[in-house]
Amino acid sequence: FSHYKEVTDDVLKDSYAVVIDLLRATSTMIWAISNGAKGIIPVEDISEARLLKRLDESVLLGGERGGLKIEGFDLDNSPLSYKKEAIFGKTVVMTTTNGTRALKKASCAKRIFLGSFINAKKTAEYIMKETLHYNIDTISIVCAGTEEKFTLEDILCAGYFVDLFIENFPDVFLDDLSLASHVLYKKFENDPHEILKYSYHYNHLKKLGFEADLEFCLRKDFVDCVCEFRNLVVEKV
Ligand code: MLT
Repeated sequence: FSHYKEVTDDVLKDSYAVVIDLLRATSTMIWAISNGAKGIIPVEDISEARLLKRLDESVLLGGERGGLKIEGFDLDNSPLSYKKEAIFGKTVVMTTTNGTRALKKASCAKRIFLGSFINAKKTAEYIMKETLHYNIDTISIVCAGTEEKFTLEDILCAGYFVDLFIENFPDVFLDDLSLASHVLYKKFENDPHEILKYSYHYNHLKKLGFEADLEFCLRKDFVDCVCEFRNLVVEKV
């Protein structure tokens, strides 16, 4: 279980990874796929996104810098912008400050899933089934963080995944960061705002007027689809 800067290929290469950027990249991508987007292509640079649009006019460009829509892009990084009528059947090329980088960083894992509160239960159930079937014995939770730093909201969501995993595999070995995330999650599971109101990115989004996004991303398990990043595209499994 690592912050994305500490992720090593050695740990990841034999594991299934869950990448979490709760506020908001992975929540937004999952919601877009659940609303019928054909796929999401995460890219690190704005210029790469623009190039892909020049090569294929039909793609939509989405993402943020500083939390806000990028000039000339079709969509920002608010999950609420990814309504069916905007994205159904479309491929969205997305670039965000931290989330898209964390996904790329995790790409040497055997399989890479997107994590968020909004579909955690389905995702955890799917991963547990697949790890048993294919004899995979390590699950890595990769937290995107914010601007290269540890961020609380990702850790809370990681703690929820740990909670779901240990409910089914009570004897599983947890490293110290997994244990810490679980303790923190259990303390605030009924009111994550209670701790997040002190945290940096939560407040940044609040100041920008994205309160509805905060509510949305902290609601649990109302989305059924499981999303996987493979062959450079995020798709429904
Ligand atoms: C990111 O990838 O850095 C974020 O999702 C930022 C945001 O909240 O838009």
